Amino acid sequence: MQDQLTALVAKAAAELPTLKTRPEFEAAKARYVGPNGEFTALMKQMGAVPKEQRPAMGKLVNEAKTRLQSLLDAALAQLEAAELQAQLGPAVDPTLPSPDLGPGTHHPLTLVREEMCRILRKVGFTVADGPEVETEYYCFDALNTPADHPARDAQDTFYFPDGARFANVSKKTPDEKYLLRTHTSSVQIRTMLKGAPPIRIVSPGRVYRRDTTDATHSANFHQLECLYVDKNVTVRDLKALLDYIFASLLGPDTKTRFRPHYFGYTEPSFEVDLTARHLPKVKKEWIEIGGCGMVDPTVFEAVGYDSEVWSGYAFGMGLERLAMLLYGIDDIRYFYQNDLRFLKQFA
Ligand code: DAH
Repeated sequence: MQDQLTALVAKAAAELPTLKTRPEFEAAKARYVGPNGEFTALMKQMGAVPKEQRPAMGKLVNEAKTRLQSLLDAALAQLEAAELQAQLGPAVDPTLPSPDLGPGTHHPLTLVREEMCRILRKVGFTVADGPEVETEYYCFDALNTPADHPARDAQDTFYFPDGARFANVSKKTPDEKYLLRTHTSSVQIRTMLKGAPPIRIVSPGRVYRRDTTDATHSANFHQLECLYVDKNVTVRDLKALLDYIFASLLGPDTKTRFRPHYFGYTEPSFEVDLTARHLPKVKKEWIEIGGCGMVDPTVFEAVGYDSEVWSGYAFGMGLERLAMLLYGIDDIRYFYQNDLRFLKQFA
């Protein structure tokens, strides 16, 4: 029996390292240690071993069993390593130069955003940032948007469930809801609460609305907000700034016009249209581009500014709309598809 054990271990030691596939391995394992395996058969012979030899023989059987198990383990580990290697493919030489993909380009929205910020920096505006997760106070209440205003409806605004917590976003009152900001106007409030006038900021950023996506709508898009607070600011200053911005962006022939409108945070309020020469793919003469107005005294009161002393203007516009005008893009969805054929057209 001793010889049989030795021979069996030797056979396993020769065979197991040559196995190439899992089914081969499973079959071999069954042949050695399965219920009908050769080793199992030898163990069954232990009963016939004379009593005095049993301790010595038992020891040999145990040694053979341990040896078989480690041969099986090693064979399995080798198979697994080979499988992994097959998945990884040929070895990579990290010292070789990478394939030349050429330089990247800027996204058209980045180009327009940066150009607008550059134009505004030239006349003293600084870039301000605000959170995309907002609260009802900063997005609506402080902007004099009453609780029953349709924009606050769950139809237009993405609200977070009551239990949501955002440690970095300060709430004004404990039980107000978190939401995804529907406009960048909330940055006006955060900026005014942080500092004293005069203030001159531009705040570009992403906004969210419950819109169904089509050629001109997207549930998230980008806006650019401006706020100027100082003494004796007038509608003339607002109009002059908008004329300057759009002439800088779209060419000296560009003109703007105001149409009376209503926003809770400005009084008077206007919608802004522009007309420009040589805009690709634009058929209409006047194109609506954003909203603006003189900061409403209620807003100044909300942030603790004396509305008898301070005056200001604010405006907001969509960056996608601007980029579409500038580059002749006729479908908003192109901005978000990351199709290289689209992206490569912008330097
Ligand atoms: N928040 C407005 C919107 O999302 C745009 C806007 C209008 C911004 C008037 C302003 C403003 O700052 O004064 O449509």
